[in-house]
Amino acid sequence: MDKFSRIIDYIRISVTDRCNLRCRYCVNEAFPFMPHAEVLRYEEIIRFVRVCAELGVTKIRLTGGEPLVKLGIEFLVKEIHAIDGIEDISLTTNGVYLGKKVPQLKEAGLRRVNISLDTLQPERFAYITRVDAYKDVLDSIEKAKDMGLNPVKINTVIIKGFNDDEILDFARFAKAWDVEVRFIEFMPFGESTLWDSTKIIPSHEIEELIRKTYTLAPSLNSHKGPAKMFNMVGSLGRIGFISPVSTHICRECNRLRLTSNGMIRPCLFSDTEFDVKQLLRDNADDDALKEFISRCVREKPEKKHEIGLLKKCQKSLRNIGG
Ligand code: 5AD
Ligand code: SF4
Repeated sequence: MDKFSRIIDYIRISVTDRCNLRCRYCVNEAFPFMPHAEVLRYEEIIRFVRVCAELGVTKIRLTGGEPLVKLGIEFLVKEIHAIDGIEDISLTTNGVYLGKKVPQLKEAGLRRVNISLDTLQPERFAYITRVDAYKDVLDSIEKAKDMGLNPVKINTVIIKGFNDDEILDFARFAKAWDVEVRFIEFMPFGESTLWDSTKIIPSHEIEELIRKTYTLAPSLNSHKGPAKMFNMVGSLGRIGFISPVSTHICRECNRLRLTSNGMIRPCLFSDTEFDVKQLLRDNADDDALKEFISRCVREKPEKKHEIGLLKKCQKSLRNIGG
């Protein structure tokens, strides 16, 4: 529990800063990767998770970069799945390589996936990601559903002037495909120069637009977390809103982040980080690790900085773990 009575039982782990896409809002055309030696190794991540589980963590999400570019990611899933106390392992992926890996991942213990998809138009997909892989992502969504990685969640960042004319298409997609589409506000992160505050569309505007066409019934978020969810009448599909910019979602915050280079980041919106890699590499004992992790929990700020939105966070989400 942190100083504000929030239960922190969830860790998001960025397993790599590498990615097979080059989304314009995330990275520039040429982006440097971190040297391999800086990135946490699987054994280090596994040990970290085991210690966290002993402190009461029950849920793990693997993110990137793109976690599926890491060789043997299913090994990591399997090892984490085997840790006492871990009840839920999920993955955030851009979906391009997912289709081929669903069976191995499922076998290893993966429960569910979030797939990023910002447009339903193949040419736009190729533009925003700089890679022509739209069809692979749709195939992956289908396979994930078929193999029961449910609910399949789609993360969609809405950017004014890029995909705000597709909001209703995404609502239709959620309904037709029985998936959960979660609209995410465009946040000020990282290397890309695409972000500026005029490109943010606050969630309430998206919600109002959708309500003109669809009946939305408020619904519980099955996995807690910050998304505000709605059922779409007549479908298993749902839509939701993740509004880190326009609202305070900090009351519900239940997580710590572990960056790809082994830093614990208590708050997404603060560049304050704690170097747990050093401890892991110095062979600190479990008690020292536990004390360190507990201190990071205590350092969680009550609220995000009023990014207001003056200052961009230094790192890109591909390092922090989106
Ligand atoms: N704002 C909002 N979402 C972002 N993502 C990456 N960068 C940003 C940003 N600046 C999203 C990705 C993916 C998730 C992991 O984070 O699109 O869906
Ligand atoms: Fe890769 Fe995600 Fe960044 Fe796109 S947003 S480049 S998929 S890490």
